[in-house]
Amino acid sequence: MKRLGVNIDHVATLRNARGGLHPNPLVVAKEAMKFGADSITIHLREDRRHIKDDDLKKLSKAKIPLNLEIACNFKMMKIALRNNPNFVCLVPEKRQEITTEGGLNIIKYHKKIKFIVKKLNNKKIRTSLFINPTIKDIIYSKKINANCVEIHTGRLSDLVKKKKNYLTELRKIKKCAKFADSIGLEVHAGHGMDYKTTKILSKVYEIEEFNIGHFIIGEAVSIGLKRVIKKIIKIIKN
Ligand code: PXP
Repeated sequence: MKRLGVNIDHVATLRNARGGLHPNPLVVAKEAMKFGADSITIHLREDRRHIKDDDLKKLSKAKIPLNLEIACNFKMMKIALRNNPNFVCLVPEKRQEITTEGGLNIIKYHKKIKFIVKKLNNKKIRTSLFINPTIKDIIYSKKINANCVEIHTGRLSDLVKKKKNYLTELRKIKKCAKFADSIGLEVHAGHGMDYKTTKILSKVYEIEEFNIGHFIIGEAVSIGLKRVIKKIIKIIKN
């Protein structure tokens, strides 16, 4: 069965825009679970631009399957170990980027990644590495003893959105998903997905988990408008 992880980073982005408490990531996480999500993903970025330490603390304590994305360094590793989420996904992080731009440089940093994965595995936290769709990165992910790989689907998503030919990228993802699965790595997909890309990637048999954020939160704002406006108008006119 394929699973959906809902990334709620941008609930925190909206909240932080006014510095208050609304919308509340914990409330939204509980709602997402109620509506059928299998897990909640948050990325505690080093600059804390959306999710804050307090969000992580509250979400870790709630009985919600939590997938924490962190940059690959010892400071973030310690935060993860202290909060004990169910899953951790290691991602590359650049301070100036708008969102995670590509997969980890596994070959360059494999010693450090291996150390962090070991510490997390020892605590029975499921570990995942966010990688570009290359066979080499999958071989390294296995050597590092990660439990899962999350394939970066940003390029495919961009091509689909720009109505360009995405078949070569899709073939690459399929090949990597098949190979990763054959060597015992669980396969996840994430980044830039919307209805169309999700449909395309849902046909890739080996992908077990989809982590989707920006589109779900953006679409919730659009689709949810009707209910909120009706409610406000009722208050005004009564
Ligand atoms: N997976 C990973 C590892 C990510 O870093 C992100 C972005 O934070 C996502 C999935 C979700 O991407 P999007 O918000 O574009 O759906």
